[in-house]
Amino acid sequence: MSGIRPTGFLHLGNYFGAVKNYVRMQDEYECYFMVADLHSLTTHPDTKELKSNIHRVLAENIASGLDPDKVALYCQSHVHDTAELYLYLNMLAYVGELERTTTFKEKARQQPDNVNAGLLTYPVLQTADIIIHRASLVPVGKDQEQHLEMCRNFANRFNHRFGEIFPEPAAFNFGEDLVKVPSLDGSGKMSKSENQNATIYLSDPEDLIRKKVKKAITDVGPTEPNTPKPDSIANLFLLMKLVGSQERLQVFEEAWNNCTILYGDFKAQLAEDMVEFIRPIREKAAAIQEDNNYLKEVMEKGAEKANASASKTMALVREALRLNYY
Ligand code: TRP
Repeated sequence: MSGIRPTGFLHLGNYFGAVKNYVRMQDEYECYFMVADLHSLTTHPDTKELKSNIHRVLAENIASGLDPDKVALYCQSHVHDTAELYLYLNMLAYVGELERTTTFKEKARQQPDNVNAGLLTYPVLQTADIIIHRASLVPVGKDQEQHLEMCRNFANRFNHRFGEIFPEPAAFNFGEDLVKVPSLDGSGKMSKSENQNATIYLSDPEDLIRKKVKKAITDVGPTEPNTPKPDSIANLFLLMKLVGSQERLQVFEEAWNNCTILYGDFKAQLAEDMVEFIRPIREKAAAIQEDNNYLKEVMEKGAEKANASASKTMALVREALRLNYY
């Protein structure tokens, strides 16, 4: 089980860091992938854009390979049982531990005029999302580790108090370290909050991709054979490795090693590789976003699967809480 925030556009970092992991999981596991629309209310109280954001996130994930026939792909707000489980879990969560959560402290600093209770109990809602399917594997990045730790605590607390119902959920990826997709400006990774010009989005048109790659930072070039690459150059090679042909990459590796590399050619090739890589995803996502009937079907089918799983868990939960009076 995992949740996808419907804020912001998907970029190559999300693609290689998260979505590819989901796509691989869908063939081996029973998967629940959810658009976290309710969580977005804690930071984005204006809901005018919600519908188009939800549609875009669904379209981008499907275009990237997530298959709504293989997984339950659904919206958080379509599973009402989650709200009930969230309420019970709130009785098990201590204000002190919630106040100590890193993301809460960060958000409280960012939006001092809107430190709402939903922000405080964000990890409780996230726990409800996960354990309502009695999920054991949660594909998430490093930034979610603390939330997952809290999820384990809440699940264990429930189990101790009311009986063993929930497995202990663990962060998951396929053995390898998650790929960190470097940004084009030689600093850090692609991120929607930092340098947008150094981040390639799945919705970027071709000329914008070319423009961004052209601006990528290089250096004066190697002067001695087989010099180790500085980070900014190694990053561009890594990007080509992710999106381009391995044979062409090899040619540029050799050109680097014998000091004949021409950065102009290298970057032009990287730009074309990006353009080719992104084109089918962008086009497919755009077509899906236009297709309201299809999106409706996807959401209905997803909600049906998610609700079936949730209601089974909730029967156990109500029983365990002894909320059965006749
Ligand atoms: N908090 C997650 C994020 O910021 C989104 C999320 C909501 C989530 N519910 C979840 C992730 C359940 C994993 C499982 O990205």
